[in-house]
Amino acid sequence: MKAGKKITPTIIIIFGGTGDLAKRKLIPAFYNLYLEGWMPDKFAIIGLGRTPLTDKTYHEHLHEGLLQFSRSGVPDKEKWKQFSASVSYLKSDINDPEAYQQLGSDLAKLDSEWKLRANRLFYLSIAPQFIDMAATNIGKYALANEATQDRIVIEKPFGYNKQTAVALNQLFGNTFQEEQIYRIDHYLGKETVQNILAFRFANALFEPLWNRNYIDYIQITVAEQVGVEDRGGYYEQSGALRDMIQNHLLQVLCMVAMEAPISLAAEEIRNRKVDVLRAVRRFKPEEIHQYAIRGQYNSGWLAGKKVPSYRQESGVNPSSNTETFVAMQLYIDNWRWQGVPFYLRTGKRMQEKTSSITIQFRPVPHSTFSPAQAGNLMPNRLTINIQPQMDIRLRFTTKKTGLEMSLNPAEMVFDYDKCSTQTPEAYETLLLDAMRGDATLFMRSDQVEEAWDVITPILEAWESRDSLDFPNYAAGTWGPESAEALIARQGHVWALNMHT
Ligand code: BG6
Repeated sequence: MKAGKKITPTIIIIFGGTGDLAKRKLIPAFYNLYLEGWMPDKFAIIGLGRTPLTDKTYHEHLHEGLLQFSRSGVPDKEKWKQFSASVSYLKSDINDPEAYQQLGSDLAKLDSEWKLRANRLFYLSIAPQFIDMAATNIGKYALANEATQDRIVIEKPFGYNKQTAVALNQLFGNTFQEEQIYRIDHYLGKETVQNILAFRFANALFEPLWNRNYIDYIQITVAEQVGVEDRGGYYEQSGALRDMIQNHLLQVLCMVAMEAPISLAAEEIRNRKVDVLRAVRRFKPEEIHQYAIRGQYNSGWLAGKKVPSYRQESGVNPSSNTETFVAMQLYIDNWRWQGVPFYLRTGKRMQEKTSSITIQFRPVPHSTFSPAQAGNLMPNRLTINIQPQMDIRLRFTTKKTGLEMSLNPAEMVFDYDKCSTQTPEAYETLLLDAMRGDATLFMRSDQVEEAWDVITPILEAWESRDSLDFPNYAAGTWGPESAEALIARQGHVWALNMHT
């Protein structure tokens, strides 16, 4: 989030260089940064992987990724040639000491060619069981010894539960300084999520209303149409609570609920966010069923196509107890939010792909209008659509044009599509920040641990008791009925559009 383009020469080392993330997200992001002049004048990208590849075949593999996944479309031949000249491949095994020695000498060679000590950005895009081995070896072979220059980016899952997250933090803490560790949550790089900061703290209008006195409830929905695709093996160990709530939804919650920071300094923002997580009420085991419900998709229809149930997906146990849907109600026990329900919901194979935040304001305290006039009098509502639709909408009430007094809801809309510039991908923002040494949008160790702490009682309750009604929602719907019931108790419904 820092301004300015001048970045110290940087070597990016991708562990998992032949993996899906590198192909779909990382290389397209670096390439787009390059096109837009954001890469340092001198940079190198070294992809590490077990497959034997030459630089040339590695480039071809990455080029395919650009064709499919880059927002800038088919790469310009000349530009790609220039960019890929800085990309190389090192065949290596995470356990093999020689690989780290070789990497060390490659890094030193670049430093001596460039006549400076370049910054190093290690990106660990590897399966969780390899993370500690890679981190330990990077430390052991002294590859990231310059605390102000060398950074390490870690992909989720950051731990499997609170205990393993604490252990991982300790392991990283033994090898690196906290300011070197960049725990990535790609939701925080989304333009629409970052805009929450601007919207809340660069406008005088909303902040005075942003509290329990004016807000009735808040909803955060992240609904996906996709199923688990080819990630059944991973997902079986994860489930929606770990995969989405522990990280993405709780991070979005922090952006919505945090107190006003004094500045945009990384520690300032992170302190405010961790305060939110610390204030989230922990539920007792016997209360869990009242506040959190789980679902698993059955077969169904999506976009005119029959799709299988979760239990029929490859890599999934045919009697799996893993949840693909979660809805929960949280409370934040502080002055600002006391008593305001926060509803979080996420699921796969839902009717629509949509991620949004709904801030529902309280109804007017007294209706000046007769029931006939008030007709459709609805409370004010602010909707922040994160994706795929990207906009901010404020619902308010107006008079229906005509000779009689009659009310009607209307909306004021800020639509990103109407802005001329292309929206950067989340990974572009986050990788640029990591290269610049700005950790604001990355998670600090205590944030990660608090987030695990919030979901631990639910994890434990669900792991100790199988769900007897799985699968309990058809693909192509909005999840199990219990998700509606969860919030209907308070007289609320999940927001769908301005009329719900
Ligand atoms: C990932 C999860 O972190 O986020 C996936 O592991 C999920 O299961 C994805 O599909 C959603 O990200 P996005 O940016 O497509 O909303």
